[in-house]
Amino acid sequence: MMAHPEIQTRAQDELDVVVGRFRTPTFADAPNLPYVQAMVKESLRWRPVAQFGLPHSTTEDDWYEGMFIPKGTMCMANLWQCNHDTALYGDDAADFNPGRFLDEDGRLIPGPATVETHDDGHCSYGFGRRACVGKHVANEMLLISIATVLWAMRLECPRDENEKEVPLDETPVDFGSLLYANISILSCLDMALNFLLTNVF
Ligand code: HEM
Repeated sequence: MMAHPEIQTRAQDELDVVVGRFRTPTFADAPNLPYVQAMVKESLRWRPVAQFGLPHSTTEDDWYEGMFIPKGTMCMANLWQCNHDTALYGDDAADFNPGRFLDEDGRLIPGPATVETHDDGHCSYGFGRRACVGKHVANEMLLISIATVLWAMRLECPRDENEKEVPLDETPVDFGSLLYANISILSCLDMALNFLLTNVF
């Protein structure tokens, strides 16, 4: 919100009209807050929480686009790439733009990437049968949190001693690689232990 004040303003305009100043937002307001709902989707698309999802492994030998994947291979989906695919989201895929989830009349639309992601419009909850089971709770929590914070206050960048705005560091935090690195280390330790148990002891 600090990096995109114009988006914050648009959400607050919507909250002013729908909720007003005499009560806080409730879940009953959700259908009338399409822009805030679009912000939830766009936040999840733009900066996926788990950039490589959760690791899975193949239960049988497989072929994918000419590549052989043996049974037991650990597979991780690059959710970041899927969410930033310019073929799906257009040239502004790297930008934070909730408007991509609204039609020309300002109504919420599923957006691209609908088939595998149950109309989420992004891949941040994973795919298919093993997709996140908590996503409805997460979506509702994000909606009410964003709506309540923006209803209550305006978020601005801090200022230095000369009252000059300190620019926000927008570098994404790479939790996905961290997770991957941890899993890789654990896999290596597991292999080393197996080797020692089989060949040494
Ligand atoms: C913004 C919040 C959340 C995000 C981005 C998220 C994302 C994910 C992702 C990427 C997966 C792996 C899907 C796959 O393997 O394809 C997952 C799995 C899962 N999530 Fe979430 N999640 C969130 C919140 C929650 C919450 C609030 C709960 C519980 C109330 C939850 C429960 C689970 C469970 C149980 C699984 C495992 C499902 C399975 O393996 O079948 N998640 N989540």
